[in-house]
Amino acid sequence: MAFALQNSQLLVTKGLINGQWVDADDSTTVPVHNPANGELVAEVVNMGGAETKRAIEAAEAAFPAWSGKSSKERSDILEKWFDLVMANQDDLAAILTAEQGKPLFEAKGEIAYGASYIKWFAEEARRVYGDIIPAAQKDRRNLVIKQPVGVVAAITPWNFPNAMLARKIAPALAAGCTIVCKPAIETPISALAIAKLAEEAGVPAGVINIIPGADAPAIGGEMTSNPVVKKLTFTGSTPVGKLLMKQCADTVKRTSMELGGNAPIIIFDDADLDAAINGALISKFRNSGQTCICSNRVMVQAGIYDEFIERLAAEVSKFNVGNGLEEGTTHGPLITEKAVNNVAGLVDSAIADGARAVIGGARGDAAGFFFQPTILADAKPSMRVFKEEIFGPVAPVFKFETDEEAVAMANDTEFGLAAYMYTNNLKRIWHVSEALEYGMVGVNETAISSEVIPFGGVKESGQGREGSKYGLEDYMETKLICLGGL
Ligand code: SIN
Repeated sequence: MAFALQNSQLLVTKGLINGQWVDADDSTTVPVHNPANGELVAEVVNMGGAETKRAIEAAEAAFPAWSGKSSKERSDILEKWFDLVMANQDDLAAILTAEQGKPLFEAKGEIAYGASYIKWFAEEARRVYGDIIPAAQKDRRNLVIKQPVGVVAAITPWNFPNAMLARKIAPALAAGCTIVCKPAIETPISALAIAKLAEEAGVPAGVINIIPGADAPAIGGEMTSNPVVKKLTFTGSTPVGKLLMKQCADTVKRTSMELGGNAPIIIFDDADLDAAINGALISKFRNSGQTCICSNRVMVQAGIYDEFIERLAAEVSKFNVGNGLEEGTTHGPLITEKAVNNVAGLVDSAIADGARAVIGGARGDAAGFFFQPTILADAKPSMRVFKEEIFGPVAPVFKFETDEEAVAMANDTEFGLAAYMYTNNLKRIWHVSEALEYGMVGVNETAISSEVIPFGGVKESGQGREGSKYGLEDYMETKLICLGGL
């Protein structure tokens, strides 16, 4: 099924450098396909290191004028961008679903979610406060001011092609930085479409540059080695994040890393089971399991283990898996065949090690990249599904007896992004929340993301925070001005 746009100008396939929509230097393109059926969505420019270098130079040239604007001027432009994104929500969602696969209602939600960061940082742009620190000497005054870090490079993933980009560009621009972005090659069109709207909103040439390209080492290599770039912000896998951090070390760049997760959702036997099942469904199967904060390990206390699995399976059996562009689809495909193979490998290995597929357990029948929504009972911590990020619609359910055992199991991972628990015991809420080694803990709630919260992880899930008042800090330097001889 093809898709039609009300505003066909949004289907941009060229890169954006210094306010110009341009082809790749070697005129090559990369096809973008709908993962639900393999249909060609568009051919998009395939840029590399040379174009990235020019984009960085453009961002450097644009920096003085952009950072020199008043915070109100920058805020007004961001507000206008927000209005345009929301006015084009349906078209942006159609593009997103066509290239990424998630159902239209979920894509519309993502557009609003991404836009919420633009609005939030338009507001926060005007609240960048400094400090006055009492001096140790009578004749001095210490002032602390905040300044934009400079040129930022951003590398964003395919699972949220709109929102992850918006949540990096908006704080960068609000702080007064300029930016060069490399969207995921599977989903570059969503990025180009919002850049088009940013241009319409009045973002000057060179302030936002978009470099789509398949040669990630060439683009990432230029971003991480170019001394003009002062900060790299990345959302993606932990191995790639580690590599980028190493590459950034030579020029001592700041980094923000939003990396992999292995979220536990702990259901205690005193939980409201309806709420827990609903929370598990939302957090496990959102975007067909392809988010960093999806519940990866469902941990259920022994007394309610069987009932929980039976009721969860009954809900999962109601899913309507299919092409996200079709009415009634509740869950879409995975992004690539490689992703399906990876999920299939994890499920097969769990079953070989003694897990039982209560529902699902195999690839989908349709032509696209589908895997059946799956629940695995009798999952054990020795299995790969306990240790690895599944990134697919598979819920392995682990049994535990005590609070101590639950916390130890939850923390038994190198990751530390999000964790969830369901319980009505206030004492347990405090103790377990404090004991969980995670950047975000959802208590009786799994839909924790929003522009107002600090999104980010600990351990090998990354560093830095996105969204909230903390999200702007990551794009600013703290400078001391010490006035002496007063
Ligand atoms: C992610 O998967 O990294 C983003 C999820 C979210 O923002 O809720």
